[in-house]
Amino acid sequence: MAIIGAGSVGSSIAFACLMRSVVSELLINDFNAKVCEGQVLDLQDAAFVSSTKVRVGTPKECGQADIIVITAGARQKPNETRDELVLRNEDILKSVLDGLQPIKPSAILVLVANPVNILTCMAQKLSGLPSHQVIGTGTFLDSIRFRVAMKERLAVSETSVHAYVVGDHGDKQVAVWSSARVGGKPLVSFEELKGIDRVGEAKKVARKAYGIIDLKGATSFGIAAVVSDLALCITLNKLTVIPLSTYCERFNACLSFPVSLGTNGIERIVYPDMDENEIAMVEASAKTTRDACAKYMN
Ligand code: LAC
Repeated sequence: MAIIGAGSVGSSIAFACLMRSVVSELLINDFNAKVCEGQVLDLQDAAFVSSTKVRVGTPKECGQADIIVITAGARQKPNETRDELVLRNEDILKSVLDGLQPIKPSAILVLVANPVNILTCMAQKLSGLPSHQVIGTGTFLDSIRFRVAMKERLAVSETSVHAYVVGDHGDKQVAVWSSARVGGKPLVSFEELKGIDRVGEAKKVARKAYGIIDLKGATSFGIAAVVSDLALCITLNKLTVIPLSTYCERFNACLSFPVSLGTNGIERIVYPDMDENEIAMVEASAKTTRDACAKYMN
């Protein structure tokens, strides 16, 4: 596995993957060779509890990894939206992809930098890999945030809350309340959730990253746990259904929807049942993504 970008997100992902021994070898690359070496030396000190070896990798070596995680990119400033990063991060992604070439044909490319749907679309076009091997972390983290908010109200574990945030990993994300369930029972029918302000709750989930960025400058541990988890799905061919960014034919755009993920990448997309209002909200975010990606789609 290779991680491109050794900033707070890349190094936290490396640490999470190391702690869980997700792979046998972890390569790290950053254009800032000094910081990269420092992170690798620090991670090597932590590797005694892991069966993963970690070292600096050249871009060409990273291009031959089975899983390539791209975190390199500008980060959001306080109150900046993820969409506002697009121009800066498109250029960075282009040069990262150039440096990795030729990419191993069976590699799974994981986009983490934002705006993740747009960068996923771009990487699907520019990497040369089949699109089911190019994924973005999408709304995996937002869905966890949603589930944790529900767990706190219902006193059930978050893994027992079957609820998805879909579409945009950003301000236009859609929490799918209508088909969310716990133990087969519709979420909206739980007594504890009667009269809940659905719009307000979903907004809190969507705004959570802004709060963290205000307080500590960036988010890193949540996304790190998410990437270590999806990397495990890939290495163990688990085919777990998790919401990730990919091209969604139904909406003709790269959006985040539940997909089953394994060693070959995405095996299938599962569109949850959505009510009219939820579909209309997804259509709105699809339009934004489609417009932003127009130059990469043909
Ligand atoms: C977040 C970053 C990954 O939501 O966008 O924490």
